[in-house]
Amino acid sequence: MSPGRIPSGIAGPTRSRTYVVSATITIETGVTVSETLANLMQEDRSFPPSEAFTTAANAKPGLHEEAEVDWLGWWERNAKERVTWFKEPSIVLDDSNAPFFKWFSDGELNVSYNCLDRHVEAGGGDKIAFHWVGEPGDGRTITYADLLAEVGQFANGLKSLGVGKGDRVAIYMGMVPELAVALLACARIGAVHSVVFGGFSADSLADRINDASCTAVITQDGAWRRGKVVDLKGAADEAVAKTTSVEHMVVVRRTENDVDMVNGRDIWWHDLIEGQSTECAPEVMNAEDLLFILYTSGTTGKPKGIVHTQGGYLTGVTTTSHYVFDYKDDDIYWCTADIGWITGHSYIVYGPLANHVTSVMYEGAPNFPDNDRLWQVVEDLGVTIFYTAPTAIRAFMKWGDEYVERHDLGTLRMLGTVGEPINPEAWMWYHEKIGGGTCPIVDTWWQTETGGIMITPLPGAVATKPGSATIPFPGVKPDVVDDRGESVPLGGGGFLAIRRPWPSMLRTVYGDDQRYLDTYWSKFENMYFAGDGAKRDEDGYFWLLGRVDDIMLVSGHNISTTEVESALVSHEAVAEAAVVGRKDEVTGQAIAAFVTLIGNTEGTPELLQELRNHVAGALGPIAKPASIVFTPDLPKTRSGKIMRRLLKDISEERQLGDVTTLANADIVADIASQAATSTTDE
Ligand code: WT7
Repeated sequence: MSPGRIPSGIAGPTRSRTYVVSATITIETGVTVSETLANLMQEDRSFPPSEAFTTAANAKPGLHEEAEVDWLGWWERNAKERVTWFKEPSIVLDDSNAPFFKWFSDGELNVSYNCLDRHVEAGGGDKIAFHWVGEPGDGRTITYADLLAEVGQFANGLKSLGVGKGDRVAIYMGMVPELAVALLACARIGAVHSVVFGGFSADSLADRINDASCTAVITQDGAWRRGKVVDLKGAADEAVAKTTSVEHMVVVRRTENDVDMVNGRDIWWHDLIEGQSTECAPEVMNAEDLLFILYTSGTTGKPKGIVHTQGGYLTGVTTTSHYVFDYKDDDIYWCTADIGWITGHSYIVYGPLANHVTSVMYEGAPNFPDNDRLWQVVEDLGVTIFYTAPTAIRAFMKWGDEYVERHDLGTLRMLGTVGEPINPEAWMWYHEKIGGGTCPIVDTWWQTETGGIMITPLPGAVATKPGSATIPFPGVKPDVVDDRGESVPLGGGGFLAIRRPWPSMLRTVYGDDQRYLDTYWSKFENMYFAGDGAKRDEDGYFWLLGRVDDIMLVSGHNISTTEVESALVSHEAVAEAAVVGRKDEVTGQAIAAFVTLIGNTEGTPELLQELRNHVAGALGPIAKPASIVFTPDLPKTRSGKIMRRLLKDISEERQLGDVTTLANADIVADIASQAATSTTDE
């Protein structure tokens, strides 16, 4: 038997598996092994779209092929049809200084005009832009005409402070309507917004303000979170004390907690807009002027300020929104992300508004006052399209079906996910319990850097498979490559790379072109390196396998965390799982698993053995975890991604670094003490 080949006779009842040996992959640890990323799991379930959905869908079959015939022409058509330009571009792609690509570079436009004015001018001002739901139970309904007026007024307010084209504005807020207004007002006057998620610390805010020398900060007195007030103004004050560029701070009154207003620097939002005209002429922007900076923490080093510009970004998000979410005039669309992340920028603010869609914007936690809050909102507002993250779906599963069953979710017609690979069992639960077995699910792969969705099913045109992001969006050309940048044949795994530029791509890392080159363009020639592992099945479907830094090396085999985690989650007792490779004298690395159980299930030694055998049965003995720790929760970043690096430190009994950026820092000590007593009986 060739190395790494698993005998085919041990397939489980519903799954077969293959193990491909064909290429070379280097893991970040510097180890080079002559084989590709193991492809252990094969998923045979497939869900073709219903005929009814296909008939009405925005994306007709054949769209992918049409875009492939002339991919630049495809983007040009979308740019001209979906964006209203003050001056139409004559250039599509300028690659003369690659990889510093420019798109539509002689075009002129205003993004807020595209999101607001043009709809109102066309008679669509009365349509609801946002059903805003406050956490305490209050709410507001905001039409496109309302939003245009509020944006105009606040834009004039910013101008009165001297904020103008090219100035950087830090925005540190909760999910209140003024947050969307603030982004659009910046876009209107040509100021560059830098949104910092409201859950971040004062230090994180200070670093980001300093990196871009922001001259203004927009914040609020406090934000509601699980019935408590998060003191945003206090944190903003602390941050600004560590900066020198800030001249003004605008403060929204929301929670009415006491705040210190600094004379000459601070002004209440309501005072700033008082007496301001609701009309503010949109600034004429070049397509390649900066629209915003958004920081990604990545896995190491200081956060990178990802730069997005105007024309290409808007073309990308408006086109993907239209086809992926299949918007119809009467849809009520809800993306549950926070506007502090790229998902919120692209698919709460810019993409939906440019498409004249009605959205839900929710201020608070999904489990306040109870675990059914989101389903209550879906029922109350008749939500038709629902877009969330796998981490949220696994939480819903853990809380139990009863919270879902309390509500009528019959208005839903489409579901989506983003942020992490979705485990096939979580996908099935989402499909059955939330989607009633009939809603197409779009598993959308993309990044802060890509600006918009890159790999995704188009509902109505692409059959889905649980756990796969399926195929590239039309015009996008990702590939799975080996260490030398050569395509890995279908059936194999390797690095995810992108072979063509796309309009909504990042332009650089703010103030650091070299880092842009080093991080994304130096691993492979003429290809964007995404940092994710992926495999493709025989149909060419993409399966994302997690960050390449997380890939494990067990007895010479590269094994992805995603596959072992999905095998664990496929056991009925498991809600969520994280695995890491911990140092092992014999096997190089051994698989250490951390498992959260459904509801009140007890983590017994018998269950532990059962789970190890379950993984071996599903993936083969090579993937059997050496140890399993049961834990009520897993350490997550503020955006809900599992922090495997920290679990690795725990497993290897290293001193733990700073955990203050975690959403749930308390759990770490808990897991560490359990890990110390866990059994490893190989
Ligand atoms: C990373 C980007 C894009 C908005 C939210 C995250 C992971 C994202 C998927 C998916 C598997 C996914 C990747 C990617 N990721 N979507 N559908 N399937 N993995 O933005 O914080 O920039 O993170 O999230 O690892 O590289 P981000």
